[in-house]
Amino acid sequence: MIQKKVTINFFKKAKQEQQKLTMLTAYDYTMAKLIDQAGIDIILVGDSLGMVVQGYENTLSVTVDDIIYHTKAVKRGTKRAFVLSDMPFMSYHISVEKAVENAGRIIKEAGADAVKLEGGSHTIDKIEAIIKAQIPVVGHLGLTPQSVHRFGGFNVQGKQLEEAKQIIKDAQRLEKVGVSAIVLEGIPELLAKEITQQLTIPTIGIGAGKYCDGQVLVINDMLGMYADFVPKFVKQYKQFCKDIPNAVQQYIKEVKSGDFPTTEHSYLIKNDILQQLQKEIK
Ligand code: KIV
Repeated sequence: MIQKKVTINFFKKAKQEQQKLTMLTAYDYTMAKLIDQAGIDIILVGDSLGMVVQGYENTLSVTVDDIIYHTKAVKRGTKRAFVLSDMPFMSYHISVEKAVENAGRIIKEAGADAVKLEGGSHTIDKIEAIIKAQIPVVGHLGLTPQSVHRFGGFNVQGKQLEEAKQIIKDAQRLEKVGVSAIVLEGIPELLAKEITQQLTIPTIGIGAGKYCDGQVLVINDMLGMYADFVPKFVKQYKQFCKDIPNAVQQYIKEVKSGDFPTTEHSYLIKNDILQQLQKEIK
């Protein structure tokens, strides 16, 4: 059955109908196809790829070209889901013009349906300009990983009064300039609840509790593949960090013992052709 493609209109409709939005990251064709077929609403080509795909200790090295490369692969595997791509660090910080140009590349060259930018007040002019260029934008507030050095680590945000007030103010400003949704990352559950109640656009939480209008996780975290660092908010639905090495050890054992491959995994040749071949090569 061909399911209807998720478009930007689905975001507000889902909030109005109190339907939770589901989002997961993917960075390649195979994973995108699997999670699309499973019915995920939004696939995020996140700059988390810097950590879980490229092996860096944060997301800061990711480039616009990286995002375009991975978004193209994800797009080829996706039929129904909305494809949202991150704007990486320094792709929207320098000037409004650069921000629009880079957002445009991600839409035009990679085929993303929208872009996501981190930050509130300090990115609002860039967000506004990108939206004016007819590109849908998703905001991202709270523990924004591109600010890791300013935060002094991946620390929960909004626990103090002034910080919490600023996040609420930023969320309101983002809604006012026309973002389609806001990712809330690493903030207290009840602060996320306040924000979610105040907005008409959906909030999508990661480490922001159950009151958000939707949830997002990094696929490598939820499948238990990325064991370098497992934050408190991650639920591992599988433990592939154990299953994959176990499978590989089994493969090594079977190759060495000759148990793999069997005839089941091998191609046949007709006997008369084989006999003729053996005669001719002698
Ligand atoms: O890069 C990413 O995967 C993200 C999520 C953590 C929301 O921005």
